[in-house]
Amino acid sequence: MRQVFLVLSALLLMAATTSAHSEFSNPGIERRVDELLRRMTLDEKVGQLVLYSAGVPTGPGTGRADYREQVAKGQIGSFGNLTGAAATNALQKIAVEKSRLGIPLLFGIDVIHGYHTVFPVPLGMASTWDPRLVERAARVAAEEATAEGIRWTFSPMVDIARDARWGRIVEGAGEDPYLGSAMAAAYVRGYQGANLANADSLAACAKHYAGYGAAEAGRDYNAADMSDRTLRQIYLPPFESAVNAGAASIMSSFNTLNGVPATADAKTLTEILREQWKFKGLVVSDWQAVAELIPHGVALDEATAARKAILAGLDVDMESGFFQRHLGELVRTGRVPEAVLDEAVRRVLRVKFALGLFDRPYTPEPAAGVPAKLDPAHLELARTIAERSLILLKNDKAGGSALLPISSPARTIALVGPLADDAVNMLGSWPGKGEAKNVITLKTALAQRMQQSGGRLLYAKGTEINSASDAGFDQAVQAASKADLVIAALGEDAPSMTGEAASRAHLGLPGNQQQLLEAVAATGKPVVLIVFSGRPLALTWAAAHLPAMVQAWYPGVQAGPALVRTLFGEVNFSGKLTVSVPRAVGQEPLYYNALPTGRPANGIDLTHPPANSAEKYVSRYIDERNSPLFPFGFGLSYTQFAYAPVKLSKTTVSANALNSGAASVMVSATVTNTGTRAGREIVQLYLGQRGTSVARPIKELEGFRVLELAPGESQRVEFKLSRDELAFWNIDMHYVAEPAEVSVWIGPNSAEGQMARFTITR
Ligand code: NOJ
Repeated sequence: MRQVFLVLSALLLMAATTSAHSEFSNPGIERRVDELLRRMTLDEKVGQLVLYSAGVPTGPGTGRADYREQVAKGQIGSFGNLTGAAATNALQKIAVEKSRLGIPLLFGIDVIHGYHTVFPVPLGMASTWDPRLVERAARVAAEEATAEGIRWTFSPMVDIARDARWGRIVEGAGEDPYLGSAMAAAYVRGYQGANLANADSLAACAKHYAGYGAAEAGRDYNAADMSDRTLRQIYLPPFESAVNAGAASIMSSFNTLNGVPATADAKTLTEILREQWKFKGLVVSDWQAVAELIPHGVALDEATAARKAILAGLDVDMESGFFQRHLGELVRTGRVPEAVLDEAVRRVLRVKFALGLFDRPYTPEPAAGVPAKLDPAHLELARTIAERSLILLKNDKAGGSALLPISSPARTIALVGPLADDAVNMLGSWPGKGEAKNVITLKTALAQRMQQSGGRLLYAKGTEINSASDAGFDQAVQAASKADLVIAALGEDAPSMTGEAASRAHLGLPGNQQQLLEAVAATGKPVVLIVFSGRPLALTWAAAHLPAMVQAWYPGVQAGPALVRTLFGEVNFSGKLTVSVPRAVGQEPLYYNALPTGRPANGIDLTHPPANSAEKYVSRYIDERNSPLFPFGFGLSYTQFAYAPVKLSKTTVSANALNSGAASVMVSATVTNTGTRAGREIVQLYLGQRGTSVARPIKELEGFRVLELAPGESQRVEFKLSRDELAFWNIDMHYVAEPAEVSVWIGPNSAEGQMARFTITR
């Protein structure tokens, strides 16, 4: 007995070290789960695995009216899209007081980049490269959402996205697994807080598991097919990071991965997630993904779809109703073992207990209702994050000085473009409960600024986001002609062109915005282009012809103030790209951490078609360069930073010592602000390895630091390279460091930096 106890406690200890949140290995909770499970009927068990959407569906509709009866019978375990303390409490009361066992409901919704206070879209948040800020934004979102009865968010979206055509690239942190992992953990920590049981903790859900971002041709919901190595090396790390940070749930994705629909994939759902990562929380399907097993062709009927999903390791069926209709019968007829059902129920109950829902099922209803105004502290955070999400892509010197920051106080500025005064768009692709009335647009903020400084603002929309009519062009051109400076606010329509089901085959400005831009630029006035988009756009003409460009993504409720403060230089730009910006759509998928080829185009001028066989038989396009328009990690500042040569603590280290944790290499560099303004620099560390058993990316991010430097100030940054940074999935699919020649870069982006080399010996 004592031995059993010792083994058990050792197991619990192991579990506790793999999951940061002890709620998931808490013996008290496990006891309560088991006690409850013993009292449940088969149908009550099935009920816990059913999630219905009560509000506006994000997919094909539901239209059910009998929720109350179903809740009273214990046939529903959780709800999506029902919000508000009063509304959730009303349904909760039925679950707690009318259902036989009184098991509380769990209310979930997509709280993605803010709830009432809308922050920049996730791709913009990632552009800050600051996990602490992202964690704070997630905390604010959790506080606002939990006050309205929500205890579960379908966030963070941690899909690696290497293809700008895919509309959902906006929802994640971009193309890099290292940065993506840091962001994934930050969201989880922010949402879940110090302890899931706190009333303002929101259970996180890392989605969409797995490989969803690798949709072929960037077309949403399309198949993903990749090697096991790419899956492990690129797509899975952010999920594992979310699990290690204690994420309470994971969402299975819509796509097939290597031919198997992710919602019925035992390899990812059970082998990797449960057996290897020891994940203890629940797995929910994406919207009707169980039903989609039929169109995928792996089930001919509803019961088979339900059986395949639960046997693979899915716990909760979002919205298809297949679990509700068939699981009971599948268990009764022995086609699904009851133990499998029990395990799924256990995972759901575990999350509900961890959230404290059994002890505190209701949300206090504020006497005064939902506050009409956003919390000033939340707004300030939204502004700070928005400022740091903006990326200065270009800022040419014209006549000796750069166009930005806008300096002379009394001047005439022409503001043109359909996104200059579009509050709805500033809220991005998942606005939550964000309202346009709380948004300050660029036009509003700029008008205020010009009034204060005695300058003149001429505004002309010019065109709509997606229009063929040039009726407004003249007015925009006239405004530009009268101005000293033109600000063009152009881009995509967030609700219809970014996010889910919004893949694009063209990566230019929609409608006739490119023509508007060229017409305005033809006045000869200097033009600053502000790009509002949910993906990197191939703005090759603009990059070649305009003096200044800013990538703004969708900055949220504080879009205007954040833009004005950076454009006028009150705060410096510091955001950097977390996605490669293409020159042409044909380059996609485009990502910096690509493998080498046997025929690299090194040293060949790719700006013209091949002129001879030496120029031709290399890995290239005959009609476009290989390189991106702007590389991963890139972003300018109003100041300049100089990087001193990289220093290494040693030039050889043994693979054995690395793998056993006995050795590491320290790398450092000093970064100096050589300009005249204070600035924030995102210092990036990249590694490349050669001589290994499998080809390794030419460069991959393995570290970054955010430095704040006063003019003239220097700071030394140091990184530790140990097994974590140097190991990879080798030829035998072992995660190890191997003998290699290692290049280390410390620099401002993935294309520049100082380099040093060391060797990993046997
Ligand atoms: C479908 C989306 O793919 C997913 O991201 C979202 O969480 C669910 N709908 C629920 O709204």
